[in-house]
Amino acid sequence: MIKIAPSILSADFSDLRSALNLCDAGMADYIHIDVMDNHFVPNLTIGPAVVKSIRFVSKTYFDVHLMVTNPRRLLNSFAKAGANGITFHIEAVDNPGSLIDQIKSLKLEVGISLKPATPLEKITPFLDQIDRVLIMSVEPGFGGQNFIESSLEKINLLHQMLLKYKLDRVEIEVDGGIKLENALDVINAGADVLVVGSGIFKNDDPVNQINKFKELQLS
Ligand code: DX5
Ligand code: ZN
Repeated sequence: MIKIAPSILSADFSDLRSALNLCDAGMADYIHIDVMDNHFVPNLTIGPAVVKSIRFVSKTYFDVHLMVTNPRRLLNSFAKAGANGITFHIEAVDNPGSLIDQIKSLKLEVGISLKPATPLEKITPFLDQIDRVLIMSVEPGFGGQNFIESSLEKINLLHQMLLKYKLDRVEIEVDGGIKLENALDVINAGADVLVVGSGIFKNDDPVNQINKFKELQLS
């Protein structure tokens, strides 16, 4: 079963409670939370204080995507705020191994994300230590961008690699530009989790959209 992670970056920030209620009504598997520091990416979004507030609204898994230059400095505050999984960018850190250990010591799941131009070789040494890989299918920083087609090959390469190393417990999560029109290609390439922002929250009926994505299956 494909997992759906609505990205609340595209939701109405003046009413995040309703956005989370919609995700729960649609039986979303994760709530994807985009954290941007206006340094690693040219945008500034959600911090631990917001996560702490919305933690009381939903019990759904909080999938925190850190697009920040210094993720280590934020781990404790997001752990206290109620994150369930933290994903950092491989391009932002010198010592990924110790960061992985630190996230695990906080009893959180760990993910590593890579930008479209970053090759898989950068993360292969860590695949057996993490819970998910977040493949960016847009340049990180904004919702509503177009899906980068070359991401499909990268997803499939990683899928083959995980099978070869018997690491298929590691989730392949794909993020950026996913819509109902291209989602099946992403699933067939090997994705386990689809992050969807504008494809859900910019639609008149977000709950129905989540259901439509969940109904998509490997063809
Ligand atoms: C972009 C974020 C994505 C984004 C997805 O940097 O990491 O999670 O919100 O939104 P859509 O689905 O609209 O591309
Ligand atoms: Zn994201």
